[in-house]
Amino acid sequence: MAENIYPIENRMLSRQEREKMLGQRGVMVWFTGLSGSGKSTVALGVERELHRRGILCRILDGDNIRAGINSNLGFSPEDRRENIRRIAEVGKLFVDTGVVTLACFVSPTEEIRQMARQIVGADDFKEVFVSTPIEECERRDVKGLYARARRGEVKEFTGVSAPFEAPQHPALSIDTSVLPLEESIARVVEMVVKASQL
Ligand code: ADX
Repeated sequence: MAENIYPIENRMLSRQEREKMLGQRGVMVWFTGLSGSGKSTVALGVERELHRRGILCRILDGDNIRAGINSNLGFSPEDRRENIRRIAEVGKLFVDTGVVTLACFVSPTEEIRQMARQIVGADDFKEVFVSTPIEECERRDVKGLYARARRGEVKEFTGVSAPFEAPQHPALSIDTSVLPLEESIARVVEMVVKASQL
């Protein structure tokens, strides 16, 4: 596979050089949880607060990635795996650039998240489980997808007709049905500020 490929990495600037220029360490914050659990909402708040503190970040989000780089993928187990594989590879480039990367993807299985962790590198990977129960996600149903999934109009919908495995040892767990949004944001910010210190 790597035949006829000549990487130039040994001549490129190092991650350390970029991080020194930015004054921060690159880190991947991997939000996992059901659709409607609040992953993107929390990440948006975290991004604003980190920006205010002078920390460079970038959100990668299911709906925008699936409209672009992954527009050829659906929701079968194979496509979800390929979705997450590409995102992890792209995310790794951001982390290697020194950027705090906030990835918001359902990433429903242990196997898929393990793959992402392995691609990004365990030392740079902070898993945040947005553990909002399905009853609350379904009650919110911001996109109307739970209703459509219950009617059988959306196939393989996570939590309804496709599995979601809760992570066993997340760095942080946040249930947005009990925690006020500002508190959820503050908890992630606290973790990121520590992890992104040089
Ligand atoms: S993942 O499983 O491959 O990680 P991803 O986070 O990219 O999923 O996309 C999930 C988003 O796609 C949901 O928030 C929802 O808006 C939409 N979606 C559409 N169909 C499905 C489905 N069958 N299962 C889950 N999410 C779906």
